[in-house]
Amino acid sequence: MNNPPSSTRLSRRDFMKGVTVAIGSIIAAAIGLPAISYVVSPAMQEQESDAWIPLGQLEKIPIGIPAFFSFTRKQENGWEKTATSYGVFVVRQDGTNVRVFSNICTHLGCLVSWHKDIQHYVSPCHEGHFDLYGNVVSGPPPRPLDEFKTKVEAGTLYLLLPPFRRS
Ligand code: FES
Repeated sequence: MNNPPSSTRLSRRDFMKGVTVAIGSIIAAAIGLPAISYVVSPAMQEQESDAWIPLGQLEKIPIGIPAFFSFTRKQENGWEKTATSYGVFVVRQDGTNVRVFSNICTHLGCLVSWHKDIQHYVSPCHEGHFDLYGNVVSGPPPRPLDEFKTKVEAGTLYLLLPPFRRS
């Protein structure tokens, strides 16, 4: 009987090495791939930036007087978690028409408040004044208050994040 030349013969030791490496690779892949997926997948998920936020029953909001609402939106973006607070003024014009304005001054971002006596929103930082519908009356603000799109469903008023700029 002829034996194969020694250079092409697979020794028992080499065979066991090969089997060990193959099994080790399969085990590493079985453990490693789900672990990598667990670590990476949150960062790969798409973040929803637009959101409808319920503010409450429209009929409970007084007509012609800005009503202040605040809420916090929590978001997860990959491993980053954020919480953003919003303040808005809801101006109900009549039974169905409503507009919602941001309380952030368009000059340098101070928070405006409603001054009933002069019927203006006033920014305390540099005396920026806005009318009932957020239009600039006086001071340094370069544009009106930002506004939110709204919808009413089953009597509940919703606003859409983020707000939009008016010029
Ligand atoms: S930040 Fe409002 S007027 Fe300057």
